[in-house]
Amino acid sequence: MVGAQWGDEGKGKIVDLLAQQSDVVCRYQGGPNAGHTIVADGETWKLRQLPSGVVSGTRSAIGAGCVVDPEVFLAEIDQLVERGVDPAIVVLSGNAHLIMPWHVTIDQASERRLGKLQIGTTRRGIGPAYADKASRIGIRVQDVLDAKILRQKIEVALAEKNVWLERVYEVEPFDLEDVWARYAGYAERLAPFVGDVSLLVDEALRDGRNVLFEGAQATMLDLDHGTYPFVTSSNPIASGAATGVGIGPTRIDRVLGVAKAYVTRVGEGPFPSEIEGPQQARLRELGGEYGTVTGRERRCGWLDLVALRYAVRVNGITSLALTKLDVLSEFAELPVCVRYRQRDGAETSHFPAHQSDFHHAEPVWQVLPGWQTPLDAAATVDGLPTEARHYVELVARELDVPVELVGVGASRDRVLA
Ligand code: IMP
Repeated sequence: MVGAQWGDEGKGKIVDLLAQQSDVVCRYQGGPNAGHTIVADGETWKLRQLPSGVVSGTRSAIGAGCVVDPEVFLAEIDQLVERGVDPAIVVLSGNAHLIMPWHVTIDQASERRLGKLQIGTTRRGIGPAYADKASRIGIRVQDVLDAKILRQKIEVALAEKNVWLERVYEVEPFDLEDVWARYAGYAERLAPFVGDVSLLVDEALRDGRNVLFEGAQATMLDLDHGTYPFVTSSNPIASGAATGVGIGPTRIDRVLGVAKAYVTRVGEGPFPSEIEGPQQARLRELGGEYGTVTGRERRCGWLDLVALRYAVRVNGITSLALTKLDVLSEFAELPVCVRYRQRDGAETSHFPAHQSDFHHAEPVWQVLPGWQTPLDAAATVDGLPTEARHYVELVARELDVPVELVGVGASRDRVLA
């Protein structure tokens, strides 16, 4: 399951629904920059680090491709215990990387330094943690299993990071003993969760079980295929699940793309279908479009089929879930971006390969009539008002992908098949 837009597509609710038919749910990339909100049995869950499978008590794994903030991880484990869920369902890959306190400080300081050019990150240390992983100086989850190794790695890392913090970013350095005291405590609590996620998933698949890979962030935030540099530092796209978990790509047989019936984006970067004028604030209010992690206002736009067609391509999406259709119920007219007009005036239905072309792309709208009635009564997609059905049908037709699920309300049971 992958986010098909810029994140916040309502993946948490869909993954929660699918988790009930799954034996294992796996996160394969990202860290506590994700914010999955799930309403189940009248209770609201807000998860950042753990797979959404925990809500339904399903075995939940965090793969090697993830970065883990121990503080957030352990706080969510405590939350499970409070809600009566056995935390032993959670398995954490020893190959995942730890987010260290300096990663968070560097993320914040580097955004401040960039000023107007900032990426608008969640400031959770994601980019700096992945940068250290790629530089081969990261500290991994498995390092918590040996106190001597962990202390040594913290020592080596701090010797370099403190120079950067003081001289480049002009912020306070970290004290080795403080960090050690905190992380030694975390290490002890993390150790029982560490396991071999690749083997666990392989064995589950060999036993004919259902494994669900839960993408965080989204296609347009993919490090390689998103709107770089306004992206996250991992690969949310479907093929990232294979590397992020440690299985072959041939083991993935279906890819469900989750797209909101409109589009939102947090952080900076181009956004052709962003709404101009007061309708943007209205859509934000109606959809409750404020960040789960940062509380930031999300930028809102009409549905962009050019970007969604690209998501179908780079993920190999086999079906779509269209979420939050009910949020559009009040609008008399619903513009949908069906093509981009390029700088030379030509129109294209393909996503521009180069950043400056995307920057200059202008939306070409097809305006659909709204249904202007609540969707509460519908029990199936066929039971939706005619205009709402046409809206869904346009998406399926334009993208040549079936729309399998349609979200029409916040709770778990308001997803129509
Ligand atoms: P980072 O992942 O914190 O480095 O942030 C990089 C970009 O990804 C920023 O534009 C963030 O707003 C965006 N981003 C990261 N996680 C999410 C998410 O869960 N939903 C939406 N946007 C996200």
